[in-house]
Amino acid sequence: MSADRARSALVASLVRDGRVRSPAVRAALETVPRHLFLPGLSHGRAYDDAAVPIKVDDGVTVSSVSQPSMVAIMLEQLEAGPGQHVLEVGAGAGWNAALLARLVGPDGAVTTLDIDDDLVAGARANLAAAGYDHVTVVTGDGALGYPPAAPYDRIELTVGSTGIRPEWVEQLAPGGRLLLPLTVRGSQLSVAFDHTAPGRLSSRSVRSCAFVRLRGAGADPGAEIALPGDGWRVQPACPDGGPDDGTDGTDGTAAVLVRAVAGEGTDRPAAAAGSGADLWDGLGLWCALADPGTVRLFGPATGPGPALFDLGRARAGLGLVAGEGCALLLADPPATVRSCGPDGGTAAARLTALVEGWVAAGRPHAADLRIEAVVPSLAPTADAAAAELVATAGTELVDTAGTRLAVRWEPG
Ligand SMILES: C[S@@+](CC[C@H](N)C(=O)[O-])C[C@H]1O[C@@H](n2cnc3c(N)ncnc32)[C@H](O)[C@@H]1O
Repeated sequence: MSADRARSALVASLVRDGRVRSPAVRAALETVPRHLFLPGLSHGRAYDDAAVPIKVDDGVTVSSVSQPSMVAIMLEQLEAGPGQHVLEVGAGAGWNAALLARLVGPDGAVTTLDIDDDLVAGARANLAAAGYDHVTVVTGDGALGYPPAAPYDRIELTVGSTGIRPEWVEQLAPGGRLLLPLTVRGSQLSVAFDHTAPGRLSSRSVRSCAFVRLRGAGADPGAEIALPGDGWRVQPACPDGGPDDGTDGTDGTAAVLVRAVAGEGTDRPAAAAGSGADLWDGLGLWCALADPGTVRLFGPATGPGPALFDLGRARAGLGLVAGEGCALLLADPPATVRSCGPDGGTAAARLTALVEGWVAAGRPHAADLRIEAVVPSLAPTADAAAAELVATAGTELVDTAGTRLAVRWEPG
């Protein structure tokens, strides 16, 4: 198949699925030749709706050409327009930078950063081959932004962050937009923030996403805990909310979780279990925002263990730890909550109520979230502003690296 035909077919499917909505994003995707950013791949594969890893270190993907549907979703969130100045953090092979260049046109300017020299060299070569050599490609740690070309009308990260760096907000023009994959209580969310006042951001749109994480000064190793035994791991939603190894003669909730995973405990019906995607987007996000004891569990794809969601290379599920007990949500119909340990009943009651609350609220997901952000170092009245935000019923205050978030659900 010719590259042009493969590209048209891909864009048509993104329009059909509602990923592409605006004529500008459609024209950009129809024009920029993605295959020139993936030299060596067949046209068929270059125009699959899939991310393509381009750099792997120690078995871990550190760079990829992003999935077209995700790129389209984010460009719709960004709303970059003619004449604007844009900073991208995470150049990769340069494909999204070319799309941005197309969106801002000849009167705009795009600067893209990557932390690795070899990726920057590749991106420069690809952009030149595709006719976008007016994009400025710089090696640098995007955590610091890029002051020489600031202020920017738009800053887009195509790499995940656990916080909002003051540098990005400082380098954003008043009324500008910051779009980034931001980890909130363990869920990575693509959040488009408008810059409403010094140090203050307000979300325009939120979507679910999954990006490789920032390296360098903004890196965060995450808080994953390996359970003893059969290769199960736990990700606490809050850094200090996960299972413990036990004190004062107790077994600890890590050991209780291992027993629950092995089948021990009391099972009771649950209102719903959601889907695998809901672990991060819907139910999992709902639980993580409401209860700091929420955990996500990951285990081997096969072997002993409970009926959690099959993610292909792993099983994953939702749980909650409380006191000396835990509860697990089992996905096999009928949906079930299993409790284990001396405080298992408390954990199960909390998890059961959360599931019921999520169902009663109409099963909201990431797109139903509203987030206000305060970067305390840039907002002189940060404490007062945050207090005012949390005073609203149903608003959760979430402290992430360098940022205070006020998060609330607004379904519908
Ligand atoms: C998902 S890839 C980017 C995809 C790309 N924008 C595209 O068009 O497909 C994420 C990129 O972020 C880069 N990265 C990671 N940490 C970074 C940092 N601190 N500063 C700049 N780039 C970084 C990685 O090297 C990787 O190339």
